[in-house]
Amino acid sequence: MTRTESEASLKIRNNHKRFPGVYALKNASIDAYPGEVLALLGVNGAGKSTLMNILGGVLQADEGEIFINGTEAKILSPRDSEKYGIAFIQQEIQLFYNMTVYENIFLINLKDYKKYKMLPFLDKKLLREKAAGLLSTLGCYVNPNRKVNTLSVGEQQMVQIARALSQGGEILLFDEPTSSLSMKEKEKLFEIIRHLRDSQKTIIYITHYLDEVEKICDKVVIMRDGQIVGYGHALDFDKKRISDLMTPLERSFSKIESASAGKIVLSIRNLSGLKYPIGVNFDLHKGEVLGLWGLLGSGRSETIRTTLGFDEKISGEILYTKNGELEPIEPKKLFKECGYVTEGRHFDGLFLPMPLWENITSANLHTFSRNFFRVLNKKKEKNEGEKYIGEMRIASPDCDMLTQQLSGGNQQKVVIAKWLSKKSDILFLDEPTRGVDVGSKMEIQYLIRKLASEGVSCVVVSSEVEEIQEICDRIIVLREGAVAAELSKSEINNQRLIKACLGEV
Ligand SMILES: Nc1ncnc2c1ncn2[C@@H]1O[C@H](COP(=O)(O)OP(=O)(O)OP(=O)(O)O)[C@@H](O)[C@H]1O
Ligand SMILES: [Mg+2]
Repeated sequence: MTRTESEASLKIRNNHKRFPGVYALKNASIDAYPGEVLALLGVNGAGKSTLMNILGGVLQADEGEIFINGTEAKILSPRDSEKYGIAFIQQEIQLFYNMTVYENIFLINLKDYKKYKMLPFLDKKLLREKAAGLLSTLGCYVNPNRKVNTLSVGEQQMVQIARALSQGGEILLFDEPTSSLSMKEKEKLFEIIRHLRDSQKTIIYITHYLDEVEKICDKVVIMRDGQIVGYGHALDFDKKRISDLMTPLERSFSKIESASAGKIVLSIRNLSGLKYPIGVNFDLHKGEVLGLWGLLGSGRSETIRTTLGFDEKISGEILYTKNGELEPIEPKKLFKECGYVTEGRHFDGLFLPMPLWENITSANLHTFSRNFFRVLNKKKEKNEGEKYIGEMRIASPDCDMLTQQLSGGNQQKVVIAKWLSKKSDILFLDEPTRGVDVGSKMEIQYLIRKLASEGVSCVVVSSEVEEIQEICDRIIVLREGAVAAELSKSEINNQRLIKACLGEV
């Protein structure tokens, strides 16, 4: 069905945005209609978040207009954006970490939940119930009284989505909402989005997963270098056409086969934490890529955090060998020997106000100190920064750019570069390709396999079946904090993984 321009609920006209050294948005125009899910696609740095940030009132365009239901909208702040009926789920988690789940969800509208009309007391019971209700429609059952800083990144994402839904906007912007959700949670979110579409909301949906376009999107907009290079019905755009428009460069990799498993470099014995893990056992071999698989909240990240001393170890033993025999080691000491790409790059992965080079060298500063007084050799550090910008194709004019000025996917590459620069024998990677585009994702997966072939042992948490299947030699499946199954390379397939994490094997 073709609709006339006047039916568009949102019209973006000739928007431009320049940053120092980067022309992030060039003459972008888009129409979006009620009852439609519009996919916004493009490689890392294409300008997707910039456009959404303008609609969300986080940034202002240098030139251009925005019309909402036919009337020109002046969006100068997030408050304005909300007034125009726009609800924005941003790419990076934006929550108050030391407040509770329900406070975060209803923060803006707290005054609507007073217990008595004239007195300044909140009806906390009602707030908690409402919050729990909203979250349960998303298939998320966290206690609304919990502080947000005790939640996993996936659960935090659910709280963000619940907050946006509670505002009841007519135009909903989702900037990579599924990048930290696992399969079950994704399906729930898709159901919600379909429901919102059926109730005539306008939805703009940014994603790097082209499968999601087929699943829930009606139309596609493709961006490249700040410009709109493709627009039309999703049915007319297959994956090949979309990726050709997204990037004219073909990037191909030869597959690296796994090396035969070497000796054990790390042995986790009966490891238990405060809640999770519960009595977890596994060995990691030299040159192996070991996957930790499970549903959101199954204890994957907690297992890594307890192993490396970020969460308290209650019982169990960790054995480690550098070259000789396996010997007991304390988690914090083990961390000094390892690399750890955390799941929340904004929370604990990066120094955002610092330049790229300082981030890249930050885990390995002692190798850049110049002399007895430990003065850092900035030139050497910058060279290291430049090296990884080149090797990892980080889209940045130079290594002096501040990390917060990079697009989400490029920030993720900086986190990985930081740990590669440390050159550890063991690398823990929690959702390593979160938010990176299809081409870069293949590059990172290739890199992990290449590191393994050079003798580095990797432990990878990923919520994506394809990814974990592609790169792992062996998978430990976790369920409710404990090991539910172990699958060898030949046993890894979609069904086995899903059955194992649901406890059906
Ligand atoms: N505050 C800023 N200062 C300078 N440059 C910026 C700033 N914000 C964004 N940019 C640049 O604008 C370009 C577009 O970034 P944007 O975040 O819109 O990309 P994106 O399409 O959302 O990418 P991703 O998929 O990685 O999230 C990038 O080159 C980025 O470095
Ligand atoms: Mg982005």
